[in-house]
Amino acid sequence: MAATDEPAARPRGTRRLLGAIARWTLIVHAALLVAQPFIAGTMLDGRSADAQAWHLKIGMVLPTIGFVQIVVTFLAWGLARWPQGAFTGSIAVWVLELAQFFIGYLGMPLAMHIPLGLFVVAAGVGMAYAYGYRAVPRALVPASTLADAHPN
Ligand code: HEM
Repeated sequence: MAATDEPAARPRGTRRLLGAIARWTLIVHAALLVAQPFIAGTMLDGRSADAQAWHLKIGMVLPTIGFVQIVVTFLAWGLARWPQGAFTGSIAVWVLELAQFFIGYLGMPLAMHIPLGLFVVAAGVGMAYAYGYRAVPRALVPASTLADAHPN
């Protein structure tokens, strides 16, 4: 008899909800990351007085949502059979994001902030594509949970 704490034995609705929350966290996180270079461009153009304030606000939201993503992908890994990579990748993106935030906030050289920024944006979008948009490869998901885990 299967143990009740096995992911396969968890209520289907819970797994679906957890998967949906993880998926949307990844997507919203990536969208905010993508916004940053555009806002930075507006800031450098000097056409909007608000651009710097928005870059800073989103810059503060990003490590916050990045941390939420770590928690959610950890739960999705443990309870909804999401791949471990979604969790470990989220930790990596969060660490880079924190570095990016402080490099910007402390006025360190743009020669560091801009290349790292582009890398973080690519990493966040890659994570959203790999785990938020694409389905989990079949080989990673036991047949018993295939229909429920990480549905498209
Ligand atoms: C490709 C992406 C990015 C580009 C091109 C970019 C560009 C810039 C530029 C040009 C500045 C102004 C620096 C100065 O005035 O000396 C800046 C500041 C800043 N950036 Fe970014 N950035 C990017 C991504 C990010 C991300 C992802 C974060 C947060 C995780 C972030 C957080 C900040 C912060 C906190 C500041 C300081 C704002 C202030 O003090 O008002 N940036 N960035």
